[in-house]
Amino acid sequence: MTIQSDILLIGGGAAGLSLALRLADTYSISLISKGKMEDGCTVYAQGGIAAVLDKGDSVESHVQDTLGAGAGLCDPEVVQFTVERSRRTIEWLIQRGVPFTHEVADHADSPYHLTREGGHSHRRIIHSADATGHALETTLAAQVRAHPNIQVYEKHIAIDLITAQKLGQHEDRCLGAYVLNRRNGKVETFAARYTVLATGGASKVYLYTTNPDTATGDGIAMAWRAGCRVANLEFNQFHPTCLFHPRAKTFLITEALRGEGAKLTLPDGSPFLAKFDPREELAPRDIVARAIDHEMKRLGSDYVLLDISHKPAEFIREHFPTVYQRCLELGYDITQQPIPVVPAAHYTCGGVMTNLHGQTDLPGLYAIGEVSFTGLHGANRMASNSLLECLVFAEAASEHIQQQADLPASRVAIPDWDESRVTDSDEEVVVTHNWHELRRFMWDYVGIVRTNKRLQRAASRVNLLLHEIDEYYGNFRVTNDLIELRNLSIVAKLIIQSALLRKESRGLHYTLDYPKPDTGHAPRNTVLTPPNYTASSPAAAASSS
Ligand code: FAD
Ligand code: SIN
Repeated sequence: MTIQSDILLIGGGAAGLSLALRLADTYSISLISKGKMEDGCTVYAQGGIAAVLDKGDSVESHVQDTLGAGAGLCDPEVVQFTVERSRRTIEWLIQRGVPFTHEVADHADSPYHLTREGGHSHRRIIHSADATGHALETTLAAQVRAHPNIQVYEKHIAIDLITAQKLGQHEDRCLGAYVLNRRNGKVETFAARYTVLATGGASKVYLYTTNPDTATGDGIAMAWRAGCRVANLEFNQFHPTCLFHPRAKTFLITEALRGEGAKLTLPDGSPFLAKFDPREELAPRDIVARAIDHEMKRLGSDYVLLDISHKPAEFIREHFPTVYQRCLELGYDITQQPIPVVPAAHYTCGGVMTNLHGQTDLPGLYAIGEVSFTGLHGANRMASNSLLECLVFAEAASEHIQQQADLPASRVAIPDWDESRVTDSDEEVVVTHNWHELRRFMWDYVGIVRTNKRLQRAASRVNLLLHEIDEYYGNFRVTNDLIELRNLSIVAKLIIQSALLRKESRGLHYTLDYPKPDTGHAPRNTVLTPPNYTASSPAAAASSS
């Protein structure tokens, strides 16, 4: 069965939804998501979206803060491009009806309340209390579902991109994707003139993560297999403050708590961050997460404490209703007591290389949002710059698609998915075992603090796993778990390779073997090139065009 549309959009988070709404009046769109559209990271975003909205703030200041957090690896042109577009992006969301929290103080410049987070020198985070992602996702998703030109396919997981070269054509181009319909187990062909990856990041590669189950790096792995370069995958961001609770799945405690005055202390109540950075609680995330990791290891402690109970209870309940409620359910009243917190994997700074239009190396294929590497985040993403990147690059990609004189129609006949050589699996335990093993060794060996030896250990284990998974994949019918495990293992290998290539500590990549930045060379991105990469592809550019 072949489903044809102008645009195949894979992913229904901030990036996918905003691209869909920007293009839907002109093009037919098939939007697929592997679970419900709302199951990605976006709906969990708490803190907000960074944008220059206050009169006392400036584009220059937001740019400088982003460059500072990125530890020498941000692309200044991309940072400037993104920040310059921040105000109009927020205006677009307001027009769409996203309910941001209003400012109550009469003297404020902005009608909306702006909060602060790590690395930001100004109040510039617009938010919907502490559930910004939920407000954004549900508002845009309702409009996507209601649009007559957008067909939503939920419980559809993309397996692989279809490329012209694999079908024997000389000129390569993305023609769509093979997609498993999880409702009936059939693999369907989605053919499109343009395909957009908006599949989010890969933090599920770690045992402990703030991310939902969807964050398995599918887009990164699919693009890699289709011949696209990836970059800077060694920079996994660990969020410093997730609630430590033996019975609860990881729950993020937004950085905006620290922005509004919460203090981090050791279990005995003594402060410790001043030893690591003069900005203390508002230092960039890599520094705070590493400081916590260091103190936990030094003391053999399972957690540190985060305390906002000195602020008025009414203020806390009004600004942080989600955090307050969830902690209360788990036995902590944050208006009265400190809570135990630990770092957890949170964000994939690297990804599929794109230019300023969101184009990847493969003609006809775009990547936007957390799946992409645009050059914005450098070695460490500054808080709340991620949703901003999703929205700005969705706009940029939609503009680029609309500027194409005429959408090229593919004349290549796409064969159906071939299942003639596979059977149903009789040993699902292989998948569950390998899934657990992978995430465990990534946490232990490729986490906040690395060494060459740990990375080598991880490299040999991932190679064994990949061998087993390939064999399994070749013999058995695909399932959701198998597709995700295969992708996650490929991304794990790319993360390890990237980490081994970086012979220095910079931003989120910290290794005891090279504890300082390499000052002998200009900072460099870690670019990995797949064996089937075509250097002459017209869109190939990590820099703008
Ligand atoms: P996602 O929102 O993750 O959406 C991915 C979509 O792709 C999903 O619909 C998923 O089902 C689909 N998908 C994936 N693979 C496939 C496949 N193979 N086939 C079909 N569909 C697929 N950032 C900020 O800027 N500010 C914040 O305050 C903030 N808070 C955060 C709090 C938490 C707890 C978390 C986890 C992240 C937070 N972030 C925040 C980061 C930010 O939320 C994400 O980077 C951003 O939402 C990513 O959006 P996206 O559209 O790229 O992907
Ligand atoms: C948070 O609210 O702390 C998360 C913000 C982000 O990841 O940008």
